[in-house]
Amino acid sequence: MGKHVSATSSMEKQYLLLRHSLFLLLVLVQVCSNLAMAGSIVKFLPGFQGPLPFELETGYIGVDESEDVQLFYYFVKSESSPETDPLVLWLTGGPGCTSFSGLAYEIGPISFEQVLYHGTLPKLLLNPYSWTKVASIIFLDLPVGTGFSYAKTAKASQSTDLQACDQTYEFLRKWLVDHPEFISSLVYIGGDSYSGITVPIVTQLISNGNEVGIDPHINLKGYLLGNPGTTAADGNYAIPFAHGMGLISDELYESLKISCKGEYQTVDPSNALCLQNMQAYNQLLDNIDHAHILEPECPFASPRPNNLFNGRRSATEMLHKKFEELKIQESTAAFTCRMDGYRLSYYWANDESVQEALHIRKGSIGEWIRCNHGLPYRISIWNSVPYHANLSIKGYRSLIYSGDHDMLVPHFATQAWIKSLNYSITDDWRPWILQGQVGGYTRTYANRMTFATVKGGGHTAPEYRPAECQAMFERWISSQPL
Ligand SMILES: *[C@@H]1O[C@H](CO)[C@@H](O)[C@H](O)[C@H]1NC(C)=O
Ligand SMILES: *[C@@H]1O[C@H](CO)[C@@H](O)[C@H](O)[C@H]1NC(C)=O
Repeated sequence: MGKHVSATSSMEKQYLLLRHSLFLLLVLVQVCSNLAMAGSIVKFLPGFQGPLPFELETGYIGVDESEDVQLFYYFVKSESSPETDPLVLWLTGGPGCTSFSGLAYEIGPISFEQVLYHGTLPKLLLNPYSWTKVASIIFLDLPVGTGFSYAKTAKASQSTDLQACDQTYEFLRKWLVDHPEFISSLVYIGGDSYSGITVPIVTQLISNGNEVGIDPHINLKGYLLGNPGTTAADGNYAIPFAHGMGLISDELYESLKISCKGEYQTVDPSNALCLQNMQAYNQLLDNIDHAHILEPECPFASPRPNNLFNGRRSATEMLHKKFEELKIQESTAAFTCRMDGYRLSYYWANDESVQEALHIRKGSIGEWIRCNHGLPYRISIWNSVPYHANLSIKGYRSLIYSGDHDMLVPHFATQAWIKSLNYSITDDWRPWILQGQVGGYTRTYANRMTFATVKGGGHTAPEYRPAECQAMFERWISSQPL
């Protein structure tokens, strides 16, 4: 017995010694790589007049074996109290849509002047509703191959949901080590659309890492998601939504429900009545913008997908593809749809002076596109509900919001999976108010999950309702009721 104990303790000593030297090695590696890793401050941006009135840093962080994956980020420091304000890591959906989309079209401090492209560099304006008024935000181009993120080898250019999430966790650890002033900040992970899959996974990886003592400890508080793709069943709710919004008749809706038995995504080819109903439905929805049903549809529309997971290719991806990849000729028409605005980013981000200002490594990527749907990316997780369930048990806060005019991930779909978790309600369905007007409706659950609709919002709610979304974010992040 005694012999056994001493054998163990000598093994323990060896282990401790080994751990100690590994730790020193780690510190050394980190010190060395820090030198190469540091981001660069951006004081001026082409298209924006004068110095930027907020702090922007861009940079790359290498992840994975031999750092063959180089992840690019834009970091905007909180414009209030960066020392005490929370730190948000923001992922845009797709998969394959650049986080610059979140920065310039949704929640960041700049936006494009809304005029048609005329052959000169698009102009940038300040967004008065930036979420960076109350939080520091890292906008990460993820997965590899998105935006300015790139791979050094063909093998490293491939990824799956889980690999992308592991890389995100590694990115955040390295970023925090590189930015020690934020090491104790409260951390939230956020995103929208396809990030409904990746954000809960990344949040859980951080939580698990903290539990087993992985360094650095991340002061994780929770996560937030907008119109999040969550389960493969989300798309089934487009039909009740279309009915509720008055886009299809009561009769067609009743017939669809009975003939297709509530399954509208994979229709049995021998079910003639369901097929016929689906055809009638698709015709009725043909000229409707699924990202926001009240918005004008772009004139050159290609066949539209009707749910986020369709054919392993997301609908947002398809929507955003139109201008950038189809190389539409210069339009002479007026600025009629959001695609005109998306197109500006293509000309801006591919400009040499812009890439120089952003400290883009020469030759690291070919053409920059807002949503790269040609990625060698494999969707491997089709349901993130179990992650939500686990995170709630562990006490993390969450905000799940739905632009209520989105048909890609309709609010019905989101409410359905939240309901399936059976959480008890602590603050039941009520309007939340901004400047005397209803901003949307909200409900809070005992597990610290808050659901909110954004009245009039589309798939990326802040793009359509910036003031409301900023107010919602500000209240939630400071733990006030909406
Ligand atoms: C949720 O937590 C349980 C218990 O720790 C674990 O077995 C399960 O794998 C977790 N689910 C997911 C999706 O990670
Ligand atoms: C929620 O309740 C239903 C009905 O009681 C049950 O079938 C389901 O398993 C529960 N879900 C969870 C996540 O506990």
